[in-house]
Amino acid sequence: MHPDDGIIYLAEVDSTNSYCMREAASLASGTFVVADSQTAGRGRLGRVWHSPPGCNLYVSIILKPPFQRLDPAVLPQIASLAAYNTVRDYGVQDVWIKWPNDVYVGDCKLAGVLTESRVVAGAVEAVVTGIGINLNMSPAELAVIDKPATAVGAQLDRDIDRDDCLQRLAGYFNAACATCQSHGFEQIYAEWRDASGLVGRRVSITGTEAGVTGTVRQFAIDGSIVIVDERGASHTVRSGDLTLTLL
Ligand code: BTN
Repeated sequence: MHPDDGIIYLAEVDSTNSYCMREAASLASGTFVVADSQTAGRGRLGRVWHSPPGCNLYVSIILKPPFQRLDPAVLPQIASLAAYNTVRDYGVQDVWIKWPNDVYVGDCKLAGVLTESRVVAGAVEAVVTGIGINLNMSPAELAVIDKPATAVGAQLDRDIDRDDCLQRLAGYFNAACATCQSHGFEQIYAEWRDASGLVGRRVSITGTEAGVTGTVRQFAIDGSIVIVDERGASHTVRSGDLTLTLL
């Protein structure tokens, strides 16, 4: 992608995801919408995504039908893998993808993904993939977040250029979409599964009625996680409104 091709830069917006959902009809498929700050940045499960000005990457990508062999259901995995590869390029160590699609360094969250669909008269008009990567937040700003969080700059002790990060992320995201379109999802799925590092780990998943605790056996290709409990029973849990805790 040539710098600025297909990228809309906003100084301030409520949320880049909300902007894409509102403006879906007029935005070209494949457009990246980036904001310096978000006044109502949103995360999964109705959470707030802390979005102070000028220090992080807040971007949403709008894709519209026809998706040409790309199943939009895999966009969260494509996006989290793109964020994972981007921050590793900078040299951040101990990065992993926490199911379903958060990027962590150790116990601290570094990036998140929020995918939403706009449905009009029963048909998908657009799928919006929002990615937030903490880049240059100060320790004081990170402390405002209600869960342990970190930033690429804090990990490397230097500032990260937002637009350089965007170009790297866009490269990984677009390449993974093209791979899925030409060869299906298997290769990207395998990379995503390896990046998760969760197979064999004991976890607890909350949000389902009863919750599930056990050892991760595998991930299904649709992004479901397969957990074996202490009685040997296997549970397949789809993502959605769920939280995973490492035990
Ligand atoms: C999460 O981890 O809960 C998902 C966070 C997603 C944040 C990004 S920032 C760009 C886009 N706009 C939003 O309002 N949210 C996403």
